[in-house]
Amino acid sequence: MKYDDVMKLALERGFYFPSCEVYSDAQAGFWEYGPAGVSLKNKFLELWRRELVRRDKMIEIDGSQIMSKSVFEASGHLASFADPIVRCTKCKSTYRADKIILDATKTVIPESAGLDEFDKVISEKNVKCPKCKGDFESTKKFNMMFQVGIGPEGEPAYLRPETCQSIFVDFPRLFKTMRGKLPLGVAQTGKSFRNEIAPRQSLLRLREFYQAEIEVFCNPAKLNDLDKFSEIQDTEIRIQVNDEVKALTCKEAVDSQIIPNKFVAYYLGILAEFYEKTGIDMRKSRFRKLGEKEKAFYAEVAYDFEVETTTGWLELVACNYRSDYDLGSHGKKSKEKFEVMDNDDKVLPHVFEISMGIDRSIYTILEHSLREDKENDRMVLSIKPYLAPTHVGILSLVKKDGLAEKTDEIYRQIRTKFDSFLDHSGAIGRRYRRLDEIGAPFAITVDHQTKEDNTVTIRRRDDMAQSRVNISELESILAKETAYP
Ligand code: GLY
Repeated sequence: MKYDDVMKLALERGFYFPSCEVYSDAQAGFWEYGPAGVSLKNKFLELWRRELVRRDKMIEIDGSQIMSKSVFEASGHLASFADPIVRCTKCKSTYRADKIILDATKTVIPESAGLDEFDKVISEKNVKCPKCKGDFESTKKFNMMFQVGIGPEGEPAYLRPETCQSIFVDFPRLFKTMRGKLPLGVAQTGKSFRNEIAPRQSLLRLREFYQAEIEVFCNPAKLNDLDKFSEIQDTEIRIQVNDEVKALTCKEAVDSQIIPNKFVAYYLGILAEFYEKTGIDMRKSRFRKLGEKEKAFYAEVAYDFEVETTTGWLELVACNYRSDYDLGSHGKKSKEKFEVMDNDDKVLPHVFEISMGIDRSIYTILEHSLREDKENDRMVLSIKPYLAPTHVGILSLVKKDGLAEKTDEIYRQIRTKFDSFLDHSGAIGRRYRRLDEIGAPFAITVDHQTKEDNTVTIRRRDDMAQSRVNISELESILAKETAYP
């Protein structure tokens, strides 16, 4: 389905909606998750924990969102985390230089290009302000971090622009107290903040957004020394090679040197296995190696995991080989020791990062799962049952004749074990359709026969098939059908 169909679903069924929407001074780039969105996000994160964090014996932390200035002096964000912007000399409107050039001339200039490159194209191609046709001032850098003032003196600190800085500054303590051994994965989910110049498309470019980040600390001398590689060597990953996307096993990707080592291939492999389980159409996915000018300033090598949607290819995950950039700079600035022992070797670990955008992943799952069933005049969110915001609707066919009471009794019995929605009112067909739209894989209906033989009908979302089951079987059926894979 298209972006607009997902937006309609999101707004009407409580997935997400704009923040502060009742006020006219609400800023762009801030969105809230409603009940269905929170439920889906929690389940997505549980899958992430199972398939990446627990699978790989990683550890998880939950760090502060406001971090001190020194952190970002060391990380390089104060100096380098900036977008190129241009301002109109006449109406003073400001734009991202790369975006305005792309829109006006279809020329792609990476955001990390030199400022004079933007000026040159703007002048050569005669790019003008889209609002008033005025000329632009020369391109400048705009730092995207939000500064905050701490205490009455307003001491400067920053909202983190990526969650992982806590993982880096906490590394010495974590490694010691958790009796770490390389390679060690440290994971974290939470909010990050970026003062985007052009936030847009709801969850796709936000100023306040969720990340699920994993930083794997490793010995750079052992990137091909990885027993667990055998677990994923036959897993297929789709990689962009020149202008073509090739499906290769992880082993083929390493043997052909398309992926530089087993260590990187292992993490791309488990990431692909995770996304397969989210229900995203993996035939529309690719890992794309970024060019020198596209990479973030801290990355030595970078692969984006991208998925095709009706809005174009979306970057869902940045996989960055950050080398010893972060630990080296925090060690130097803080004068703390970031080296650790790897058997008999003292090493400053290198970092491979799997930085996932949660909001974009949620959008993509919704877009790839939503379908129109024209024959039955309904929209269906055919989401994996373990990710469904509501597992089951519990409905009384009619309220009278004691059916409402019986329905309430079933609801009380299962509500703490499954996400259940109790519904007594309205035409039964309409109630089924509402459940289909929010992706509830099952609906249980109590009717007059229930009173006679203690059975209910259970209806399946995708094929609308109905069967009769005894109430005593409900829990085990739902447990089996909604279990994580
Ligand atoms: N930590 C990498 C990123 O936020 O893109």
